[in-house]
Amino acid sequence: MTTRYRVEYALKTHRRDQLIEWIKGLLAVPFVLHSQPTAVWEPTVESVDHMAMTAQRRYAEIMRDVEEIVNDHIAHQKAGTQNRSKLKLLVPSVANFFTPLALHDAFIWQDQRRFISYRRFVPPSFNDIRLVLNTAQVMSLVRSGPLELVTFDGDVTLYDDGQSLSPDNPVIPRILRLMRTGSKIGIVTAAGYTEARRYYERLYGLLDAIYTSALPDSTKENLVVLGGESNFCFKYAGDSPDLLKLVPRQEWLLKEMVLWEESDITELLDIAEASLRDTVKNMRMEAILVRKERAVGIIPKPGYKFCRETLEETVLITQKILELSEVGRRLPFCAFNGGNDVFVDIGDKSWGVLACQRFFDGIEGGKTLHIGDQFLSAGANDFKARLACTTAWIANPAETVQLLDEIAELDEIQQRKTR
Ligand code: IMP
Ligand code: MG
Repeated sequence: MTTRYRVEYALKTHRRDQLIEWIKGLLAVPFVLHSQPTAVWEPTVESVDHMAMTAQRRYAEIMRDVEEIVNDHIAHQKAGTQNRSKLKLLVPSVANFFTPLALHDAFIWQDQRRFISYRRFVPPSFNDIRLVLNTAQVMSLVRSGPLELVTFDGDVTLYDDGQSLSPDNPVIPRILRLMRTGSKIGIVTAAGYTEARRYYERLYGLLDAIYTSALPDSTKENLVVLGGESNFCFKYAGDSPDLLKLVPRQEWLLKEMVLWEESDITELLDIAEASLRDTVKNMRMEAILVRKERAVGIIPKPGYKFCRETLEETVLITQKILELSEVGRRLPFCAFNGGNDVFVDIGDKSWGVLACQRFFDGIEGGKTLHIGDQFLSAGANDFKARLACTTAWIANPAETVQLLDEIAELDEIQQRKTR
């Protein structure tokens, strides 16, 4: 590996989403050709409304084309030849899609809210496209409804990093609405605790609201928490003081997970621990090592904060060492940067989401939406959920609320159509 390649890899590949970058590149062309930056000082140039109309038409045409390229990829998936699709040639990292994406309509929807086509100096950005993709995904899910299962990441998705879901959190009435309209709910978090009490402490606002709500008891039970990515399962239980009850492993483990050997789990965590200790020493980190039943991690000593570069370096080293180990090839694991800590968990969120789907009697990936904040290809833990279901990539808890409002609005439009 040349130094240049290493720099490119370490600094770029894992911090870019190739599909989003590719779409951004396509939209840059109409931006260059149709935006009118000189209109600021040259009044003779066409009106901004006219410019925006032209730009929107061109952007939307491109999104329609991308939508069709995705449909072609899905047709290849069905034939088992997804590695030969045109999209795969253009975006080699692209995986499978569980549903088509309503990209054209989603672009118009987001353009009406973000005024992308009106911009004369700032081209369509990473965040514009991320939000268009989210809208396109939920549009497709709602149109082919019903949305049977919604799984949520915890930190940064439902509440701020390291915080708890308190009673004033605006996400609560939105989750209750989803439950009322028949969706099952999974909270698939890395936070790994063996006792219900600890999850109650993190999620009490939502659990108490479900308890006091007028939802029928059978509906209240449509909530499950998968902790430690895919290691501990708790279900809602109105008669328990913590409103959650541990589900015994044999009731929810997938058959592949039954094969995970305890000796392999210990060996993998030992290797991860040694690697973390080594990095802490080399990079003089003020860290505390935390070893758990199904995870090992480092957290900062009180009063310290790790910088992003150190966190990423730690994740990438540990991940590489584990990938190269024998046991790392046998056992799924997830090494990720949690914002101010690094954890290695046994299993990952694809198994967490699959376990929720199984728990609710076999819900399909195309009827499931996972909402999370960590979708970069390395050092991020929601990324793996893409193997199990459709996903939406949010940047903070306010965007989760916005997305759930979008789902509600689209649901209403859909119901009006079918009435
Ligand atoms: P998530 O965003 O809900 O997936 O939660 C990630 C955060 O949970 C991490 O950044 C850690 O701070 C915290 N955490 C607590 N226990 C564990 C564990 O056992 N494994 C991984 N993360 C944990
Ligand atoms: Mg998170």
